[in-house]
Amino acid sequence: MASNKFSFCFLIFFISYGMLIPTQCLGDICLPKEHVALFIFGDSLFDVGNNNYINTTTDYQANFSPYGETFFKFSTGRFSDGRVIPDFIAEYAKLPLIQPYLFPDSQQYINGINFASAGAGALVETYQGMVIDLETQLTYFKNVKNVLRQKLGDEETTNLLAKAVYLINIAGNDYFAENSSLYTHEKYVSMVVGNITTWIKGVHEIGGRKFGLLNTPSIGCFPFVNALVNGTKIGSCLEEFSAPAQVHNTMLSEELEKLTKEIKGFKYSLFDLFNFTLDASSNPTKYGLKEGAVACCGSGPYNGNYSCGDKRLVKGYDLCENPSEYLFFDSTHPTETGSRIISQLMWSGNQSIIGPYNLKALFEE
Ligand SMILES: *[C@@H]1O[C@H](CO)[C@@H](O)[C@H](O)[C@H]1NC(C)=O
Ligand SMILES: *[C@@H]1O[C@H](CO)[C@@H](O)[C@H](O)[C@H]1NC(C)=O
Ligand SMILES: *[C@@H]1O[C@H](CO)[C@@H](O)[C@H](O)[C@H]1NC(C)=O
Ligand SMILES: *[C@@H]1O[C@H](CO)[C@@H](O)[C@H](O)[C@H]1NC(C)=O
Ligand SMILES: *[C@@H]1O[C@H](CO)[C@@H](O)[C@H](O)[C@H]1NC(C)=O
Ligand SMILES: *[C@@H]1O[C@H](CO)[C@@H](O)[C@H](O)[C@H]1NC(C)=O
Ligand SMILES: *[C@@H]1O[C@H](CO)[C@@H](O)[C@H](O)[C@H]1NC(C)=O
Repeated sequence: MASNKFSFCFLIFFISYGMLIPTQCLGDICLPKEHVALFIFGDSLFDVGNNNYINTTTDYQANFSPYGETFFKFSTGRFSDGRVIPDFIAEYAKLPLIQPYLFPDSQQYINGINFASAGAGALVETYQGMVIDLETQLTYFKNVKNVLRQKLGDEETTNLLAKAVYLINIAGNDYFAENSSLYTHEKYVSMVVGNITTWIKGVHEIGGRKFGLLNTPSIGCFPFVNALVNGTKIGSCLEEFSAPAQVHNTMLSEELEKLTKEIKGFKYSLFDLFNFTLDASSNPTKYGLKEGAVACCGSGPYNGNYSCGDKRLVKGYDLCENPSEYLFFDSTHPTETGSRIISQLMWSGNQSIIGPYNLKALFEE
């Protein structure tokens, strides 16, 4: 039996890689020895279709045309003309596309799974009832661990979870939904960062060690902000809108450094999305883009109205001819090309944009 199983694995990997790669078989499943799973949490930057399966409104969904059309040829729930960041990271890590957790077909979890939900924040109150909040995403991850233990046993599950990378993008929505009549900004930021810490400790307790995070972008560069104030000039970012995010980003960096000393085995990579958006929207040509301020799909000045696809409150929309020339697909989300540029920097960028590890190093650790 054992030798049959070996030759079966050998055949699979011979065919898919064209060479002999050492494999290990977990139960009935054979994987390359260096296999590292990818678990994904967060909001619309990472959602690959979970919100298709919850009771919410089209503000929190992208399962209609023209979303998805350049790559998948149909909408999948991704807030993009094509792929999003987790799709590229999976590709670079030699994993298949990671499925949304709520996808109704049976799931493997061996390669990881995606829990992200558009509109979610670090705080349970953020767009409550419309999204899968971060606490619920963590509960789903606990369920996944139990399924894995039944399939693989305790020891292999512990190994798989400890080697895996946990990617998260969260907090942008907390600041969109911030109610300044309830808390001072500093108090609010400390709650948001506090809940990110709670999530990290929760994943660590379940068995995770390696975390990939992004800080919050400079919102003042988003087409919807430029539209709100009728814009200034193409390629500009309205700094006053970005200031609150900077308080968050400073506190998050400090907290992660602190956690490195406090939590056993904790390793992280923090991508500077703030500086990236600032730089790429003002200097798109540096990144091979033509347009960094106007959205490809939407209406009004800068196409900054959130109307792409004509299924939301504001009606009517324009669609650009070539999304790959644009940084933004709709008023708040990158194009597939924008996501690819970010993903490449996350994977192999240097300390000026990602640290202390980049994702390649985190996967290889
Ligand atoms: C979905 O939400 C709407 C409005 O919030 C409600 O009327 C409807 O009953 C809900 N449907 C389900 C299946 O929960
Ligand atoms: C903000 O909080 C106050 C006090 O609870 C409440 O009256 C108000 O409706 C809230 N505003 C929003 C937009 O949630
Ligand atoms: C997390 O957020 C809640 C509000 O949703 C807040 O009451 C709590 O204090 C926060 N936790 C931390 C550790 O800051
Ligand atoms: C808004 O922008 C449009 C074109 O971008 C311009 O024609 C118009 O005068 C602006 N309105 C105001 C109030 O600045
Ligand atoms: C972001 O960029 C600015 C100026 O380009 C630089 O001063 C700052 O150190 C950068 N921030 C980080 C976290 O690298
Ligand atoms: C954009 O949205 C604003 C409200 O946020 C509305 O006043 C304006 O008419 C919209 N523009 C277009 C072109 O739909
Ligand atoms: C980091 O990479 C950027 C471009 O990707 C480059 O301009 C910069 O010189 C690099 N910095 C170091 C310290 O290698």
